[in-house]
Amino acid sequence: EARPFAYNKKSLFCDGVDLRKLAGEFGTPLYVYSAEQIGYRYELFEAAFQEHTHTVCYSVKANSSLAILKLLGERGAGFDIVSGGELERVRKAFRPALKKVVFSGVGKQVWEIDAALKADILIFNVESEAELGLLAERAAAMGKRARFALRVNPDVFAETHPYISTGLSEHKFGIAIGLARAIYKKAAKNKSLDAAGVSVHIGSQIRSVDPFAAAMERVTGLIAELRTDGHQIRYVDAGGGLGIDYSQGDFDPAAEVARYAAALGGVIEGLGVRLLLEPGRFLVGQAGGLLTQVLYVKKNGAKTFVITDAGMNDLIRPSLYRAHHEILPVKQGKDAGKVDVVGPVCESGDFFAHDRVMSAVKPGELVLIEDAGAYGMSLASNYNSRVRPAEVLVEGRRARLVRRRESLRDLMAAETV
Ligand code: LLP
Repeated sequence: EARPFAYNKKSLFCDGVDLRKLAGEFGTPLYVYSAEQIGYRYELFEAAFQEHTHTVCYSVKANSSLAILKLLGERGAGFDIVSGGELERVRKAFRPALKKVVFSGVGKQVWEIDAALKADILIFNVESEAELGLLAERAAAMGKRARFALRVNPDVFAETHPYISTGLSEHKFGIAIGLARAIYKKAAKNKSLDAAGVSVHIGSQIRSVDPFAAAMERVTGLIAELRTDGHQIRYVDAGGGLGIDYSQGDFDPAAEVARYAAALGGVIEGLGVRLLLEPGRFLVGQAGGLLTQVLYVKKNGAKTFVITDAGMNDLIRPSLYRAHHEILPVKQGKDAGKVDVVGPVCESGDFFAHDRVMSAVKPGELVLIEDAGAYGMSLASNYNSRVRPAEVLVEGRRARLVRRRESLRDLMAAETV
């Protein structure tokens, strides 16, 4: 697989576009995405699951750019949303996909439930008994029948960062699988509810497929019981979470997704359900990079700091999860040294790399923080009153500004003195 970011005559390109040109035209910090890579990853998922009736519901939170939602929607993707805001984004980006929306999240509000019912989304992934009660009430008030799946907590351990692991009983997510059957029984008596599925999500950036299979085994066990009880379960939602490689290792996405499909497929074989998948990171993570300019290089004691114009407000993953991101100089260089790459924000936690061996860069030069397409811009903030970056979508040899840089006026638009 060709990675979207590669050197071409000593300068780093995204597909057919020189990153120096993008920086010149749109400024920095700048998120750059490869449309080709996103499409390719989506098609890998489609191909890997072709033997199963399925819908790939892209997890909007990973990157909620309207242009990316449209690109995926047009290819046939559904969407996994967690808020009324994300629902609105799907509506705006590609309206026909509303009927392929799954609504997850532990804290759905009345207006969000109402909006989703009105949009006639595919299914609600319900995370508590109280939420199910509210859903029934709102559906009744609107004269509708709400399709739901309980998100069950399978109590399966998935090795990943503790902040993004979700499938243990100590986590706030889902309903303990042992309690689910009784809740479905109760729901069957309510005419406003349609117990259409079961869902599960055990965490994110999971590199082994075993925990996915283990969780799915518990879910299929539950489905057998539910069918005995007379429920017509038509959907099983496997959640998201398939990880990517953030180092410069050999990563074969086709093989990864094939292993994932084999693991899940092996468990749901013959179940006669539509499989819903909620990948986020796997589809967009490696398609994006954060392009930033070096402002200063300075030495403090034994350390050399490369200070960039991007900060933790633009990409928080290293600060929040100690996540590793490769950093490449746009101008291919040689003499390697050890540096800390840091942002301008007033916190020691504002860093992209510690003690990183990379080729020397000078003020004014550009570097690319790789694999920033997922949970980059979607987690960006205005901390330190910094405007959020612009976003560019590269389509072959062309680049399109899909979100302009915020202005100082945007920064204060919602405020009064
Ligand atoms: N479905 C549900 C119910 C989720 O909670 C998530 C992610 C996904 C799907 C998509 O997971 P993915 O395929 O992207 O792993 N900010 C963190 C990741 C948080 C994930 C939250 N839930 C990070 O930057 O690593």
